[in-house]
Amino acid sequence: MQSARKPDPSTIIIFGAGGDLCWRKLMPAIYNLYLDDWVPDNFAVIGLDIKEMSDDEFRQRILDGVNQFSRRGKANESDWNKFASSLNYQKADFTNEETYKKLSDKILSIENPWGKKSNRIFYLAIPPAFIEAITKNLSLSKIAQDDLRDRLVIEKPFGHDLESARELNNVIKNTFDECQIYRIDHYLGKETVQNMIAFRFANALFEPIWNRNFIDHVQITVAEEVGVEHRGSYYDHAGALRDMIQNHILQLLCLTAMEPPVSFSADEVRNKKVDVLRAIRKYTRDDVHRNAVRGQYNNGWMEGQKVISYKEEPGVNSKSNIETFAAVKFYVDNWRWQDVPFYVRTGKRLSQKTSVITIQFRPVPHSAFPNETIENWQPNRLIINIQPEMGIRIRFQAKQPGLKMLMTPVDMVFNYGSAYTAEPPEAYETLLLDVMLGDATLFMRSDQVEAAWELIMPIIEAWESNPPVDFPNYFAGTWGPEAAEALIARDGKNWLVLPMPINNSK
Ligand code: BG6
Repeated sequence: MQSARKPDPSTIIIFGAGGDLCWRKLMPAIYNLYLDDWVPDNFAVIGLDIKEMSDDEFRQRILDGVNQFSRRGKANESDWNKFASSLNYQKADFTNEETYKKLSDKILSIENPWGKKSNRIFYLAIPPAFIEAITKNLSLSKIAQDDLRDRLVIEKPFGHDLESARELNNVIKNTFDECQIYRIDHYLGKETVQNMIAFRFANALFEPIWNRNFIDHVQITVAEEVGVEHRGSYYDHAGALRDMIQNHILQLLCLTAMEPPVSFSADEVRNKKVDVLRAIRKYTRDDVHRNAVRGQYNNGWMEGQKVISYKEEPGVNSKSNIETFAAVKFYVDNWRWQDVPFYVRTGKRLSQKTSVITIQFRPVPHSAFPNETIENWQPNRLIINIQPEMGIRIRFQAKQPGLKMLMTPVDMVFNYGSAYTAEPPEAYETLLLDVMLGDATLFMRSDQVEAAWELIMPIIEAWESNPPVDFPNYFAGTWGPEAAEALIARDGKNWLVLPMPINNSK
C-alpha cells in the first residue's frame, strides 16, 4: 500500500535474529528493499538472539540466507559489502534487564550520529512465550517511548485461541498503542492479494454484479504440497484451522466480501474487513458437523516419491488428532451476501500447490439454445489465482468455430508474467516497507484478530470435544478426505477443477 516516498531514518531491531524467519524471509526482503533504493540513507539492523555471534558472523549468516532465498539469487559483492555495514548483532537473553540496557546504548550509538529522529521497529520473530517479557522490558528501559516512531511487529500465531489472543492484546497494549502495533499476516503482502482491492474497487465493471443476485457461490482453496516440514512440534498444537483459516483464508474471504472503502486509510480498510468478519454466521457446536470437515494425511506418493504420514513426521505425536486439512462452509449474513455460500479449504500434502479464489456466477435465467449446442455449458466463473499462477481468468461461453452452433467455455486471461516486465516484490518486502512508512493497512488490528478467533472457536471446541475416529483419512497427494467432497456435494456443487498453472515468467 506504500506511496512513492522513502521512509525516515529507521533502526530495525529483530528479536530472534538467529532464527529461520530472519534468515529466510526478513533479511532477504530487507536486502531487496535496499537494492531497490527503498531503504533510507540512515538505516541499521540490530539482530538479537541467545547465540553468541560477532557482527561479522551474523553478517555471514545473513549473506548465506540472502544467497539462498532472495528472489534475485546470489548477492553481488560490492552491493552486499555496502549493505552489510548496517548490520549489527547483540547476544541477548530476552528476559534479562541487562539486555535492554545494552540495547539502548547500542541504538543510541547508531542513531546519535544521524542527528535526526528515527523510526524504531521492534520485530518479534520469537515464540509467543517471550512477548510479555520483551514488551515490558522495552517499556521499563524506556527504549520505546515515541508513539509516532516506535513500532512493534508481531508474527503469527497471534494467540492459540480467543482467550489467549485477548490476553496477548492486553499485554502488548500496556506498552504500545494500537496504532504502533503491526500484526503480520504475510498473505496480505502478496502482490495478487493486494490486487484484489484494485480489481474490485478500481474497475466499474465488476462491482454491479458482485452480490447475491449474480453470484452463486465462492470457493477459496489454499492447497499445499508440502507436509509439516521441520515444524511438526508447532503444527501439532495448531492444525489447519488455526494455522491457515483463522488468518490467511479469512483475510482472503474479507477481501472478496468487503464493501467498497471510502478511502484507503488503514482504519477504513480494516473497518470494512471487520464488518465482514462480524457478519459471518457464527456456528453453534451442533452446526459444526454440517459445515466443517477435518482431515489428516496418511502416507502416499508425491511426484514419484513415497512420503510419510503426518503421525510419522518429526515432532508430531504418533497418536495426534490434529487436522492437516480443513474445509468450512461460511455464510456472510448481510444484504450483499445473504445465502451465498463461501466454501473454503486448505490442507497439507494435497495434490497441487495452489491458492485460488473462484467466484461462480449464477446460470443464465433462460437458455435459448437447444440442448445439443450446450453440452459443455458452464456458468460464468471468475478465477483469481494468488499463487503459484498469478493472474485472473474469466470463463465464459464461446461459439466453437464451425458450421454448427456448438458452445464451449473459454478463458480470458490476465497473467502477471506476460502483462508486466518487473518482478513482483516478496510479501515481506511490501510489509517491511509499510512498517517503516507507518502504513498499517495490510496489518491485522486487534479487533480483526479477535473477531476471526470468535468465528472459529466453536469449530475448535466441537472438534476438540469430539476426537476424530477416522484419522488419517486422506492419502498424501490427493485432494483431501471424501467428507470434503460430501460437504459441497450436499449443496449440489463441487470443488471446481483448477486450471493448469500458466507460466508466470516472461
Ligand atoms: C504459514 C503457515 O503462515 O503459511 C504455514 O504457518 C504455511 O503452515 C504457510 O505453509 C504458507 O504460506 P505460502 O506463502 O507458502 O502460501
